[in-house]
Amino acid sequence: MGMTPRMVGVGMAIIASATAWSVLFLPGLTAPIRPSAIARRLTPLEARGRILYIRNGCIGCHTQYVRPSDWGLSALRVSQPGDYVYDQPHLLGSERTGPDLSQEGGQHTNDWHWAHFRDPRLTRPASIMPRFRFLSRPRMRALIAYVQSLGGKMADARMARQNDWHRRLLAAWRRGEDANADFLYRRVPAPWRVLPNPYPATQAALARGRFVYEQECINCHGPLGDGNGPAARYLLPRPFNFTLLKRHPWSGGLLYYQIMNGITGSAMPYFKQDLESAKIWDVSNYIAVEFIGKNIDSGETGSGIPAAREPAPPPRP
Ligand code: HEC
Ligand code: HEC
Repeated sequence: MGMTPRMVGVGMAIIASATAWSVLFLPGLTAPIRPSAIARRLTPLEARGRILYIRNGCIGCHTQYVRPSDWGLSALRVSQPGDYVYDQPHLLGSERTGPDLSQEGGQHTNDWHWAHFRDPRLTRPASIMPRFRFLSRPRMRALIAYVQSLGGKMADARMARQNDWHRRLLAAWRRGEDANADFLYRRVPAPWRVLPNPYPATQAALARGRFVYEQECINCHGPLGDGNGPAARYLLPRPFNFTLLKRHPWSGGLLYYQIMNGITGSAMPYFKQDLESAKIWDVSNYIAVEFIGKNIDSGETGSGIPAAREPAPPPRP
């Protein structure tokens, strides 16, 4: 068979029709995809936020899918085709300069997002995400509503929990800072409240703790640990003032528990995915020495705040 112009034409026609068949017609023959258990339609406000997500190029840095191979990396759910039936065109993305957002809804409170979109450095001092402070208030509300919807019904359940705790935390906050410190103390399960920090507050541990504090906490809790970081003006309840613990019961375990799990309903994030255990203890030591005023050189604590010798919290009034 000679390679005549006619044969080349026929070959091209066969390739083109095979491609058209497999790309255009074959998918139409497969079973329609049904909504998954978590899929839901967006509200009008969320839909407006979705348009802002597209216009502001969020997809350039964020994905909205979790592959089976990502699941071990602490993702909450492997994405299913049915999760996207109402998401047309879908915003899967292919770049992960920032974290995957497919289950972002309810991971943080609205005030956290507000501060984060104003300037991501406010909530994550080392972030490279650009600022979106040029968005007007209604647009910011729409974008946050959209981000809080990511994850469908799973996000709704998390948001219900956030909102419920937010109400309770606000009530405690309004009763004054001492009542609030008391409320937060009682919220922590009893065995954690008395657990001492197992790591001594050596100079090296404090240096590591300081590094973590500056990387993660300083713009909320402030350089003096009094809760007056630059993010504080966007947040309610305000970031905790650690110097209050000079006159309240506390322990290494209390700090550890709060940092590990965050405080649902407030902007205080959970760090169990970002910080390994030793770093949480280190930053707890840093807070104890730097802001609560534990003296690491005093005879009382020896070389630091050794687990066995940490004073038990005073009896409750
Ligand atoms: C240049 C890349 C880049 C762009 C563009 C970008 N982000 Fe980010 N984003 C990041 C990085 C990096 C992080 C992680 C650090 C942080 O929290 O700021 C992040 C974090 C986030 C988080 C917090 C996730 C979590 O729970 O910790 C949200 C929500 C988010 N981005 C939403 C958006 C939205 C919405 C847009 C568009 C308006 C956007 N991002 C645009 C890079 C980007
Ligand atoms: C986005 C702001 C924000 C960031 C970042 C943040 N916090 Fe908080 N934190 C808060 C808020 C708000 C509260 C108080 C919530 C309330 O009063 O209901 C809080 C409370 C706490 C408490 C509870 C104190 C108690 O007695 O119960 C601890 C401990 C704490 N933060 C430690 C940290 C550490 C350590 C980091 C960094 C690894 C950090 N926080 C990062 C906002 C933040």
